[in-house]
Amino acid sequence: MPYKRAMFETLPTPISAATRCCAVLGWPVRHSASPAMQNAGLAALGLDWRYLAFEVIPEALGAVIAGAKAMRFVGLNLTVPHKLRAVEMMDELDESARTWGAVNTVRFEARAEDGAWQPLGQWPGGRPGELRAKGFNTDAEAIVRSIQEDLNLALRGADVVLLGAGGAGRVAALKLAAEGVANLHLINRTQAKAEQVAAEIRQAFPQVKVHCDYPAAPVDLLVNGTSLGLQPQDALPLDEQRFPLSKAGAVYDMIYRPAETPLLRRAKAAGCQTANGLGMLLYQGAKALELWSGRTAPVAVMRAALQRNVYG
Ligand code: ATR
Repeated sequence: MPYKRAMFETLPTPISAATRCCAVLGWPVRHSASPAMQNAGLAALGLDWRYLAFEVIPEALGAVIAGAKAMRFVGLNLTVPHKLRAVEMMDELDESARTWGAVNTVRFEARAEDGAWQPLGQWPGGRPGELRAKGFNTDAEAIVRSIQEDLNLALRGADVVLLGAGGAGRVAALKLAAEGVANLHLINRTQAKAEQVAAEIRQAFPQVKVHCDYPAAPVDLLVNGTSLGLQPQDALPLDEQRFPLSKAGAVYDMIYRPAETPLLRRAKAAGCQTANGLGMLLYQGAKALELWSGRTAPVAVMRAALQRNVYG
């Protein structure tokens, strides 16, 4: 039977000597859904680029970024464990990377004759002069966009419980505070880390009331930012004796594989609205593509490719 293309699929332009590269660097990285999502987006935009994944050990990160710049890659995404260490390897940091202290998107840029920096993905051709790597963070925006769009929830003035104060939990906590939530309850196995994030928030966003305990009253939203739920044998990331899920209007799990974690299953049974972290992955990638290309990302196409890659 001939291969039938799905409705959303556009065939990529054939690889030629003019094809440009972008890539995700991680360790491990073979599970990444980003190539499927980004190549679908690139094809829909008709860009003669390809998006690859490279396993890069932490010690090699600096050399790989320098090599990609020299080879005039369009840009890079960085995933675990590179996001923090990459900060010091950038020639320039966007406000977003400075604010969140982590880089998940690199855009290579060239200096034009008039001295202005131009993304290499939009370079008209000819020999570019000086090159630089500019670091961005598109993760934080993506968390909020996904919560707002997938749960149809307004964050300003909301009461939120956030589970987890590791790398992902910390950024989510700070971003939720920046969005103007009213009450933020931070719960973490290692209490000292929750206290540390709470102190950071009190300093930067004094109008947000931060607590390091479960609330007595119901909340609008509970977010899981821990890694519990990735493995089938994992315990629930919250203590239901102290906070029954029926007290949360909506539950967002930053995990997207499996599509339904035990937390989300129990939240659904308790009548909560639910969403998983696929939207986060989608929106951070869509923003990266926009930063590289200067075009509007084809979000629907990228979402369909992602769902197909992750859930089959
Ligand atoms: P990431 O970058 O994905 O956030 P991380 O920084 O290692 O990864 O954070 C993992 C989060 O999951 C932390 O909040 C961690 O709690 P601790 O700060 O106490 O380590 C949480 N976590 C991981 N395994 C856990 C477990 N078995 N029980 C409870 N929390 C756990």
